[in-house]
Amino acid sequence: MTMTVSERLLMIAVCVLVVAVLGSGGFGVAADGSRDGHGGGDDENNNDGFNFSPSLSNQVEFYKSECPAARGVIRLIVLSAIIRDWGLPAALLRLQFHDCFVRGCDASILLESNQTHLAEKDGVGNAFSVRGYEVIDAAKRAVERVCPNVVSCADIIALAARDAIASIGGPAWKVISGRRDGLISNAVETPSNLPPPFADYSFLVNIFSKKGLNEKEMVILSGSHTIGITHCGLIESRLYNGTGPNGVDPTLDSAYAAQLKQQCPFGAVMNEIKMDPSNGGNRFDSMYYTNVLNKKGLFTSDATLITTAVGAATVRAEAAGSREPFFTDFAAAMEKLINIETLKAPQGEIRKFCRFTN
Ligand code: HEM
Ligand SMILES: *[C@@H]1O[C@H](CO)[C@@H](O)[C@H](O)[C@H]1NC(C)=O
Ligand SMILES: *[C@@H]1O[C@H](CO)[C@@H](O)[C@H](O)[C@H]1NC(C)=O
Repeated sequence: MTMTVSERLLMIAVCVLVVAVLGSGGFGVAADGSRDGHGGGDDENNNDGFNFSPSLSNQVEFYKSECPAARGVIRLIVLSAIIRDWGLPAALLRLQFHDCFVRGCDASILLESNQTHLAEKDGVGNAFSVRGYEVIDAAKRAVERVCPNVVSCADIIALAARDAIASIGGPAWKVISGRRDGLISNAVETPSNLPPPFADYSFLVNIFSKKGLNEKEMVILSGSHTIGITHCGLIESRLYNGTGPNGVDPTLDSAYAAQLKQQCPFGAVMNEIKMDPSNGGNRFDSMYYTNVLNKKGLFTSDATLITTAVGAATVRAEAAGSREPFFTDFAAAMEKLINIETLKAPQGEIRKFCRFTN
């Protein structure tokens, strides 16, 4: 896309305006989730619009002086995309999770495959499933216009996911900038690092612990399944090849299974269904945990959460209120997730285009 000079000026004017508005905390929707959520850790609550953490102050200061507009510009792009597609927050949250679990939060999931090499995005668990890449591209294009070569794609993923969830009234978490983009992306690394939907409890605990996340954090992050969609193929065996009556998995509510079979006829593997249909399917709340307690979690990995004492206690605690304690717990767990094995200068690079290394 080419822009005329006047279009460019208009775009910059809009950005400056939006940055001014958002920077002053004027966007109620985005700020709400953080206020009563987890003790005011989100950057909107700081005067300068940036997070400050002593151990990372160099990166934060560098970034702040080099591109003060970045956060506002990214937020603008993300919010305008969500207005067109309310399913995007789910897509961006999952994009973040899958990026961080394979080679850390280094935007390796964004790199494209070529004729001789298959990249992460085409690996098991990501292919035909992870969405939202275009929004990251659009945010990158916008920040590159304002300040080229400063903001990494890995930081954009983190800011976009955070802003997206906050914008639908979910919790907000602190994003410290300064991640660098990785140079390597291998499809062969996804199966061993991403949890499959048929995983049982001990498998989940183990795969999360390899990323520094404990049992409770695994259960809390699974609460993400309060939003978004899945494809029927991933629950087909629970609907049609279970050991209960009518081939239904006995750990799935039979009336709910009957309903799901209508949306997911046998063989219609690419049909899409809502992970948590309550409240329209895109409301970020604790309903996921109520579903799991009622045997209405879609995957084996959801149903399995109530099969141990710690798991069941955590699910019950999170189900107890619609926002708390879920929002506080979720924000804290996200702050760990988004910092898994990040690259810091001089490691990695700042990509020019998120789909390609420089
Ligand atoms: C505990 C292990 C987990 C397993 C086994 C799992 C598995 C899955 C699967 C199979 C899907 C459906 C994908 C599709 O049909 O295209 C899905 C969707 C989703 N997952 Fe998970 N997930 C897990 C944990 C998480 C975590 C930790 C997060 C975020 C922090 C997350 C966020 C999401 C979201 C938001 C969606 C909906 C995506 C969309 O609408 O595009 N999941 N998950
Ligand atoms: C394909 O990607 C791999 C890994 O990034 C790279 O080593 C290789 O040179 C690329 N091949 C082509 C033909 O671009
Ligand atoms: C159904 O489940 C049985 C074991 O429970 C398995 O051997 C078989 O391959 C499954 N069939 C399909 C079509 O998934």
